[in-house]
Amino acid sequence: MSKSNKWEDHYTRRARQEKWLARSVYKLEEIDRKYKLIRQGGRILDLGCYPGSWSQYCISKAAPGGEVVGVDLREPENLRSEGFRFIKADVLSLDIEWLSGEIGRRDVVLSDLAPSTSGIAVADVSRSLELARKALAIGLSVLRKKGHFLCKVFEGEGAQDLRREISSRFNQMRIVRPSAVRKASREMYFLGLSMVDPSGNKE
Ligand SMILES: C[S@@+](CC[C@H](N)C(=O)[O-])C[C@H]1O[C@@H](n2cnc3c(N)ncnc32)[C@H](O)[C@@H]1O
Repeated sequence: MSKSNKWEDHYTRRARQEKWLARSVYKLEEIDRKYKLIRQGGRILDLGCYPGSWSQYCISKAAPGGEVVGVDLREPENLRSEGFRFIKADVLSLDIEWLSGEIGRRDVVLSDLAPSTSGIAVADVSRSLELARKALAIGLSVLRKKGHFLCKVFEGEGAQDLRREISSRFNQMRIVRPSAVRKASREMYFLGLSMVDPSGNKE
């Protein structure tokens, strides 16, 4: 059995049939079905967008009038669509002020950023948290008041500090593990709903 077949499951096959660029689309779809994050006309930032299924999903839900900006180290070459703009960058060294000026206010910031895993759990958790923390810093800077933030995190030391930080900046905080997350994976998603205004007023 080839390596790619080993990882194939019904989500992989369904994604191929339904012409999504990756099976991970079903994670976002499940979360979005429940929390209604992506709306028509929405302005979305998708951090770690390659190969593009989350952006593809957002473009389809936000049209007409929506706008999706994707950021990744790698260009999603199979995603060409009106309403999509790609910024090739390393999120960890991305200048937030510059990004903010480039893309303006966003309704939703998504991060499916994931490090290439080493198999050493402590190192992988720590690199995932570094990415998630940067995603949050970007979110806090570009989100409009009451905007939403979703980010992937690997379960482990330090994740609870990030959870507390999100809880203090958003009116509601949820931890979600969609059914499409593979059983053996440590990944989960932190969801901040309705960002409080910078003065810290919760409503
Ligand atoms: C799980 S994939 C995202 C899948 C995507 N949500 C989709 O549905 O197609 C994680 C992505 O994070 C990107 N990534 C990891 N570290 C990054 C960094 N420092 N800067 C930018 N992108 C990064 C990887 O290149 C990879 O494409």
